[in-house]
Amino acid sequence: MKVLSVVGARPQFVKLAPIAAAATAAGVEHIVVHTGQHYDEDMSSSFFDELGIPNPDVNLAIGSGSHGAQTGEMLVALEKVFQERQPDWVLVYGDTNSTLAAAIAATKIHLPLAHLEAGLRSFNRRMPEEHNRVLTDHSADLCLAPTEVAMAHLAHEGLAERSVLVGDVMTDVLLRTADRVAANPVDSPVSADAPYVVATIHRPDNTDDPDRLAAILNALAGLDKRVYLAAHPRLVDRAATHGLKLEIGAITPLAPLSYPRLVQAVTAADAVVTDSGGLQKEAFLLGALTTTVRSETEWVETLDDGWNQLVNDPAEIAASVGRTRPTATRATPYGDGHAADATISALIAHTSS
Ligand code: UD1
Repeated sequence: MKVLSVVGARPQFVKLAPIAAAATAAGVEHIVVHTGQHYDEDMSSSFFDELGIPNPDVNLAIGSGSHGAQTGEMLVALEKVFQERQPDWVLVYGDTNSTLAAAIAATKIHLPLAHLEAGLRSFNRRMPEEHNRVLTDHSADLCLAPTEVAMAHLAHEGLAERSVLVGDVMTDVLLRTADRVAANPVDSPVSADAPYVVATIHRPDNTDDPDRLAAILNALAGLDKRVYLAAHPRLVDRAATHGLKLEIGAITPLAPLSYPRLVQAVTAADAVVTDSGGLQKEAFLLGALTTTVRSETEWVETLDDGWNQLVNDPAEIAASVGRTRPTATRATPYGDGHAADATISALIAHTSS
């Protein structure tokens, strides 16, 4: 069996790591195509290096652009690669523009398409990711779902027969990385000498309006402990455009953290403030009290028992960060760390001969 994975953005490299390892272990031929959506060293190659992922077989180097231009350029380039490589499966990850471009390219030339992280829904149609994931699920031949809730969404949309529950691949890599940094701590700009908060903000809804971004930064600056703000390039760019400084009050701005550094930083953090889908879940799994600066989440399980709290109004961030930690033991809705093996098994089982 020949599987062709398409990745392009930071969270997809993290998900690719356990899939690449599981494919090798199962003797499956695995081709990796990088669209080039993310290209900075600390947004891309550092993940390949630190997570031991083989270099991509193809890098399309598409880079940044408007949604249409970026997705369209990827579509054209991917069609050519797919035609040359003729995989048994095109495997796409999550909900980025790279995901959607690969889904369209594969279905147009009748290549079997599998969607990993299928069935997630935020029900927020302002988010480009919501459209990307819905369109990809509905064009996929195999929807590989991370949770029971995702399976229920797929069933509700008439996709039950094409859906398989495999668990969450990010949990696989997180658990492995957490063990690794516990045994061998990594050098980090995050100092655990005093209590601290880890923060990331990168969604257009939070960065693109100057007043809203200023309110979020002021809320972080006013917290009573140091805030390590791992700044995505979009945040740096928008803050500069709006004339806003990141280094104010409690905030220590940092470049994006490598995956082991992020995991180590969150493990020892007092709290996490984020608008990232992946980080909400990682923080939940690592037992960090989390505030998500959005009005909804596709990872609804993190909200149970109050480990994660949705706070759309920046004025409420401080109260949320200062809330009492829940006493309840966290449930385990994201699998046992073997989702990548289940994914490869599902692809093998559903390959038409
Ligand atoms: C993308 C995904 C989002 C995901 C995020 C993870 C889409 C629609 N969005 O958002 O779901 O949560 O990745 O990080 O696909 N830039 C750089 N260097 C880079 C990459 C980006 O400077 O290596 C800057 C560029 O100015 C670019 C901007 O960041 O225009 C946004 O990048 P883009 O890939 O378009 O979207 P993200 O916000 O990263």
